[in-house]
Amino acid sequence: MTEISNVARLSEPLKFAYWVPNVSGGLVVSTIEQRTGWDFEYNKKLARIAENSGFEYALTQTRYAASYGADKQHEATSFSLALLAATERLKVISAVHPGMWHPGVLAKYIITADHISNGRAAVNIVSGWLKDEFTNFGLEWLEHDERYVRTEEFIKVLRGLWTEQDYSQSGKYYNITDFTLNPAPVDVPGRAHPEIFFGGNSTAAQATAGRVADWYFSNGKDLDGFKENIAGVVAASGAAGRGPEGALPSPKFGLNGFVIARDSEKEARDTLREIVEKAHKPAVEGFRAAVQEAGASTKDGKGMWADSSFEDLVQYNDGFKTQLIGTPEQIAERIVAYKKIGVNLFLTGYLHFQEEAAAFGQDILPIVRELEADLARKNGTELDLSRTPAANAGTTSKLVNA
Ligand SMILES: Cc1cc2nc3c(=O)[nH]c(=O)nc-3n(C[C@H](O)[C@H](O)[C@H](O)COP(=O)(O)O)c2cc1C
Repeated sequence: MTEISNVARLSEPLKFAYWVPNVSGGLVVSTIEQRTGWDFEYNKKLARIAENSGFEYALTQTRYAASYGADKQHEATSFSLALLAATERLKVISAVHPGMWHPGVLAKYIITADHISNGRAAVNIVSGWLKDEFTNFGLEWLEHDERYVRTEEFIKVLRGLWTEQDYSQSGKYYNITDFTLNPAPVDVPGRAHPEIFFGGNSTAAQATAGRVADWYFSNGKDLDGFKENIAGVVAASGAAGRGPEGALPSPKFGLNGFVIARDSEKEARDTLREIVEKAHKPAVEGFRAAVQEAGASTKDGKGMWADSSFEDLVQYNDGFKTQLIGTPEQIAERIVAYKKIGVNLFLTGYLHFQEEAAAFGQDILPIVRELEADLARKNGTELDLSRTPAANAGTTSKLVNA
């Protein structure tokens, strides 16, 4: 039995996001058949299916060069904007690298995207691991923890320019003087500004996210692994005075998981086995070499991919570790076990995105909601379903079959 952590938010329904496949090759480095496209038309249809299946968010990936066979990549901010324009309710989180962008330029870009989408733009600030992307562009490659120093300043500039007039900030990396961005972001009830997600696993990443991010995103983890990450983020957030009394609310938690839902557990496990058996070995090994620039390069050697096996790396964000693999009931139970330890959002990936995202909404989500309602009731509260996006199953099946 998983114990309920004091950061779990039992009355708030879990939120669901999916990885936008805006790079080629799907989400697993394997020659197994994947009916997942990376082009815009495929993604436009996927986004519409997702928003009609109960997904609240989509997350794009930022990648400028191939590294593990993902040899074609669409740029994340423009792709996100196009998906926002093609949907009605989906929030699209665009991944961005400090070091590639000036935060003032990004702040302005996202305000425009926010107005075009009526308040649905968000960002995922990623500090980078693929050294060649920076050095081959002639950009400086900062040492690991220093990347997070820059990221923290970057996020402060974003938030400052989104919420204040005549904003000034001076620091090691950015100097902003008396700047007012007009228009401001859209005024959305319950949202101070476009949401700031943050991806990273190392000790420095947890500390930075705890101080300044709205959302902490982690690679796939088992329950104990994620508990450890949450503790690191919570400690930093507490030390920074965040919470009900503080200037910033406490951060929320998102976790990556690769979903393999099949009629029987055996079928799901067989699919996982086939993905791994058909792994593209040189690409996975090449990836392993490149990610040594991430958590493994730090003093404590902790962080993303630092303890990943060959099998883990076949899903390059460690999505198998979360173990969302089995029947819809088993997956729903596992999801709610993570809610108990404090997960607020699941970031999901699939072999065949359009069909499996629709199936997730149809077969898994209703069970999750039932389990969440039970859990809330047993703990003396109610699940507030008015906070979930409306799914429209009828429309979804028409979209998938179109
Ligand atoms: C959910 C999530 C999404 C990410 N997306 C990207 C991305 O699109 N592009 C990128 O270069 N890195 C991405 N990253 C990687 C982070 O930028 C960072 O380099 C990585 O987490 C290693 O961090 P660590 O060294 O602090 O453990 C992502 C990380 C997470 C957890």
